[in-house]
Amino acid sequence: MKTKIIAIESLDETGLKALEEVAALIKKGETVVFPTETVYGLGANAFDPEAVKKIFIAKGRPNDNPLIVHVSEIAEVDCLVAGIPPKAKQLMDVFWPGPLTLIMEKSALIPAEVSAGLNTVGIRFPDHPIARAFIKMAGYPIAAPSANRSGRPSPTQGKHVLEDLDGRVAAIILSSDTEIGLESTVIDMTAEPPVVLRPGDVTVAELREVLGEVLVSANVTENVVPEKVLSPGMKYTHYSPKGDLVIVKGSTTEISEKINNAVSRYRGKPLSIGILASDETMGCYHEGLIISLGSQKDPREMAKNLFSRLRTFDELGVEKIYAEDIALNNETLALINRLYKAAGYTFI
Ligand code: TXA
Ligand code: MG
Repeated sequence: MKTKIIAIESLDETGLKALEEVAALIKKGETVVFPTETVYGLGANAFDPEAVKKIFIAKGRPNDNPLIVHVSEIAEVDCLVAGIPPKAKQLMDVFWPGPLTLIMEKSALIPAEVSAGLNTVGIRFPDHPIARAFIKMAGYPIAAPSANRSGRPSPTQGKHVLEDLDGRVAAIILSSDTEIGLESTVIDMTAEPPVVLRPGDVTVAELREVLGEVLVSANVTENVVPEKVLSPGMKYTHYSPKGDLVIVKGSTTEISEKINNAVSRYRGKPLSIGILASDETMGCYHEGLIISLGSQKDPREMAKNLFSRLRTFDELGVEKIYAEDIALNNETLALINRLYKAAGYTFI
């Protein structure tokens, strides 16, 4: 398939005209990649089962994994769900538009292809001017997963989208790098108290400030809470770089010693080694390809960089990557969740 590629930086006259063109492709049942504030999304008309099937094919995504439906205003939600729980309304008022996906009971308008046969649907109102204008022009809610090939790190830059999806979708809107860099927080509003299924930029503490009690799914906590970390469980392949990624645990000193020892064992061998460190710890290493995730003082900056750094190791042909563990707190939970998944919960 020949993919139409357009660059849009702002919604000036030229930008709007280009956006009209790709929005028209959505009306025709085609797939279009668009930027959001979290990661790039691969969109299609959420009401059109045939269009939605194209998303699964382009990504190579298992069809039992449901898609998030994106809207361009709160009023659009009413017809997509069986009813808006009062607590969901509270969250919309505080966090929308923004990186928060609310799971609610779906209405009959949402096809089974979108919800993967579940009776619920995830809805998000993204906070990105191009995403919002695009959804509005398309005239339909947009079903969109992250615009990566299944299993790869989510795309935070236009070039990541081109790597994964050029030739597999009708159009790609290229724009600036995404602001947040990790996918939205997903919270199940059909549960009481509501349960965070995927941590993101809207933190658990922020959700609790609005709602009071909020639980976090055991899927998120079981490999993150320190005492449970050493039972790796099943091998996941999510967000993975091509190289073999391992998380190195311990105190700052222990981590650098472990990594330096490991790296020295490969000395003289034709294996390319990478180290994912921080601004503060980069100086502890002298061999291998050393890349910083950012400053430990700025977890949001580190989160923004994670997926692109993993792809950088791939570009440079790194075969074995040692990543420093990150201290767990409210602000780092989402970052740690993605990093551990990318490593398939492998620790030393
Ligand atoms: O930030 C984001 O959320 C990005 C941008 C494009 O909006 N989208 C995104 O979509 O990350 P995706 O498909 O890559 O991740 C959606 C996650 C999946 O883990 C999926 O299982 C979960 O949300 N999900 C979607 N609908 C659900 C539902 N009805 N019940 C439970 N989980 C659901
Ligand atoms: Mg995804």
